[in-house]
Amino acid sequence: MNFQPHDRGVISRYREFLPLTPATPVISLNEGSTPLIYSPRLSERTGRRVFIKYEGLNPTGSFKDRGMTMAMSKAAEDGAHTVVCASTGNTSAAAAAYASRGGLKCAVILPAGKIAMGKLVQAFVYGATVVAIRGNFDDALRLVRELGADGSVAIVNSINPHRIEGQKTASFEIIDELGDAPDLHILPVGNAGNITAYWKGYREFHALGRSTRLPRMLGFQAAGSAPIYFGQVVEKPETAASAIRIGNPASWSGATDAITTSGGGIDIVTDEEILAAQAWLARNEGIFVEPASAASIAGLFKCVASPCATCPHPRVPEGGTIVCTVTGHGLKDSDTAMRGRNYAPIEAEADLDSVRRALEA
Ligand code: F0G
Repeated sequence: MNFQPHDRGVISRYREFLPLTPATPVISLNEGSTPLIYSPRLSERTGRRVFIKYEGLNPTGSFKDRGMTMAMSKAAEDGAHTVVCASTGNTSAAAAAYASRGGLKCAVILPAGKIAMGKLVQAFVYGATVVAIRGNFDDALRLVRELGADGSVAIVNSINPHRIEGQKTASFEIIDELGDAPDLHILPVGNAGNITAYWKGYREFHALGRSTRLPRMLGFQAAGSAPIYFGQVVEKPETAASAIRIGNPASWSGATDAITTSGGGIDIVTDEEILAAQAWLARNEGIFVEPASAASIAGLFKCVASPCATCPHPRVPEGGTIVCTVTGHGLKDSDTAMRGRNYAPIEAEADLDSVRRALEA
């Protein structure tokens, strides 16, 4: 049997582009290599070739696994016994899973009452110690920085540069699959680590001659949680897309760099636009994503509907290529997907006539 442990995760796939040593223990769940799905209906609607990078198909259901395999492996190499993170839910799920995989202890600090149930249950099931604070994500991240200051615990938020290193592999995969970088890359922005990581990945492969061009980077924030768009910290961020309910992003400068040097932009979408895009993507392309992820699709629609000064979409040539990252699986937050919609089964007796009548109704 030709079996090699960890022969499929992002560390093994892109080892030469990551800061590893021969001594780094690889803590992996075969993350990455997610599908880049061509989207016929989005392409038709936009007049561009649109692809969806479906990051919800990672082992814990979000893109966070890419960064977590790196952060956890490096923490173990450095001799850490405990990792800690603040989270809106996905980072904590990934940290808890990779910590259990690596035999480390994990503590997660979460904003009380603001974590989707599918994510909260992950932290518990994977065995993390869960602390819910009376505060928001930005408060939780401040506390995590304070907890990590004496070096007794390893921080695995994206302020840990190893997280960014792992997450940049998504750009590598896109270039490897398309044969070049897209014209435009759209993604949701919360703490801004991911847009920073994608841009780093695109630049690195471009510098190595693996792509002929660099994409414009276009980030979307939820309108009620849009510090980068408005250029100021939001003290009380609000949005139904709880994953990106962040008022003071840690990688703000990374996002600004990605946007400005790529000739891209940052824009906002409302909760209504986000939830409509979530439903549209599921019904029209068969892809169910969590609300934060649907910000990419809502953003793409906004670009088509009303080209604006900060939006580079009009400069994508007809037939040009757009990649939208959808960051987390829809099952993470089924409550929000159900809310405000009249999803209810048609009740019927257990006989053929009743079922036929129900189907015709
Ligand atoms: N989409 C999802 C599903 C997320 O969980 C996050 C961030 C983002 C987008 C934004 O990515 O922060 O790199 O700009 N979630 C973090 C968490 C904050 O704690 O799970 P970002």
